[in-house]
Amino acid sequence: MKDVIDALEAKREEARLGGGQDRIEKQHAKGKLTARERITMLLDEGSFEETDMFVEHRSHDFGMEKQRIPGDGVVTGFGTVNGRLVYVFSKDFTVFGGSLSKAQSEKIVKVQKAAVKNGAPVVGIFDAGGARIQEGVDSLAGYADIFMENVLSSGVIPQISVIMGPCAGGDVYSPAMTDFIFMVKDTSYMYVTGPDVVKTVTNEEVTHESLGGASVHAKKSGVADGAFENDIEALVQMRRLIDYLPLSNLESPPTRPSFDDPERVEPSLDTLIPDNPNTPYDMKELVEKTVDEGDFFEISPDFGANILCGFGRMEGSTVGIVANQPMTLAGVLDIDSSRKASRFVRFCDCFNIPIVTFVDVPGFMPGTKQEYGGLIKHGAKLLFAYAEATVPKVTVITRKAYGGAYDVMSSKHLRGDMNYAWPTAEIAVMGAKGAVEIIFRKDLGDEKKIAEHTKMYEDNFANPYVAARKGYIDDIIMPHSTRRRVCKALRTLRNKSLENPWKKHDNIPL
Ligand code: HXC
Repeated sequence: MKDVIDALEAKREEARLGGGQDRIEKQHAKGKLTARERITMLLDEGSFEETDMFVEHRSHDFGMEKQRIPGDGVVTGFGTVNGRLVYVFSKDFTVFGGSLSKAQSEKIVKVQKAAVKNGAPVVGIFDAGGARIQEGVDSLAGYADIFMENVLSSGVIPQISVIMGPCAGGDVYSPAMTDFIFMVKDTSYMYVTGPDVVKTVTNEEVTHESLGGASVHAKKSGVADGAFENDIEALVQMRRLIDYLPLSNLESPPTRPSFDDPERVEPSLDTLIPDNPNTPYDMKELVEKTVDEGDFFEISPDFGANILCGFGRMEGSTVGIVANQPMTLAGVLDIDSSRKASRFVRFCDCFNIPIVTFVDVPGFMPGTKQEYGGLIKHGAKLLFAYAEATVPKVTVITRKAYGGAYDVMSSKHLRGDMNYAWPTAEIAVMGAKGAVEIIFRKDLGDEKKIAEHTKMYEDNFANPYVAARKGYIDDIIMPHSTRRRVCKALRTLRNKSLENPWKKHDNIPL
């Protein structure tokens, strides 16, 4: 009996070594943790249960039958994050560069299916060289099997991808279909085709970093939702993110004890809005002064920074925050910010997370770059996302809510449940200058008259009272009582029940 137990332990030990000590040391030398170290960091201590540790590939081509390594380049299983169930797979770069064999894909699909069946998120950790070249079409089949599960799981369980090394070719599309992608600065990169192919096809000289590093995807392409300094920081932040999320679409948002008084007033907010309507202020200050304990997990902070998206808590329960940011491009809606926020709104709606929207938006960004890039369709995404969302929606207009952007930003007309405005709000078809130049075109050039018209427009139209008189906003609230009013609104909406008409699925303007 002792012999068989010792034999099992020896086999486990062999599997835990993956591609061997030398390759583990190479991994460490690059500043990266190993697949197992990453899982240990992500999950609660001692909670990891590994599955399929002894799975090997079944390839006989290119001498592969002589190189079988238990586990076959991915570590899979489940554990807990702060006591809540999470499934995980972590690519092991020390085994055939983490490349995907058919057997490896079967391990990943098993985890994906178990996660849906048991209603828990999947975290995928990527560090791999794409398709296992030696396996040819079997590898492609394996990828497609994973993609299929990604799609079926979408909107059912949260799916999170963390890129911690190479992520190339077939490996990029599974993360792309998950809810969030995070990267590690300097050691991770994502692209469909690498620098050599790029050089051959387009004659561009690029490095891994300039083609697909975190500096590209977290800032320019928006493919990644954030970037962290190193593996440890990324995994600690993933634990923080998971704490905000329901485990599946059948759950309500998680709650945890809050020591922040829902009645707390913030007198400093009464002076947040500058006297000059063109002077920016930091919307993040309002967000942090509203949510519990100022704790805000921001999504995509460096992409489309003219809109803030992220998770916070109100009275201990998760909310999604969307807020125009006047500090960047005056908070205008453009292609990037519309894409970013619409995806975030849809995530919240999938997972029953109420949405709190803070509005200070001068309109949509003008210009050929935006129009040629399809601003019409991208802006419509955000409009569509807010309109179809049935979760509780609470809106606070702090300053500008002009034109079409007023409609888009969770307005009453898109089934906003509670729509508030600060007394500083300017809810109007456009700003005073633009309106006067159209209505009083004949007086252009007469500075005195234009100044009078502008003053008249500001006094009569650039305020919250016109909209309030028509019931388009529910109340004009004191800035200092924003937290109290939003908490109260969310409390009344806890049992909100609203359904859209039956359909196979909608046809959001992609
Ligand atoms: C098999 C692979 C592999 C692969 C790496 N290895 N990629 N084995 N299939 N795709 C092995 C290497 O042979 C090496 O084995 C070990 O992993 C480490 O690789 P290195 O090259 O030494 O590491 P590094 O210098 O850090 O370079 C990492 C890399 C490079 C940039 C990812 O390995 C690379 O370019 N790999 C190929 C990438 C690629 O073209 N993938 C296929 C994409 S096509 P030893 O034994 O020496 O340790 C694709 C289509 C799918 O994915 C589409 C589905 C939709």
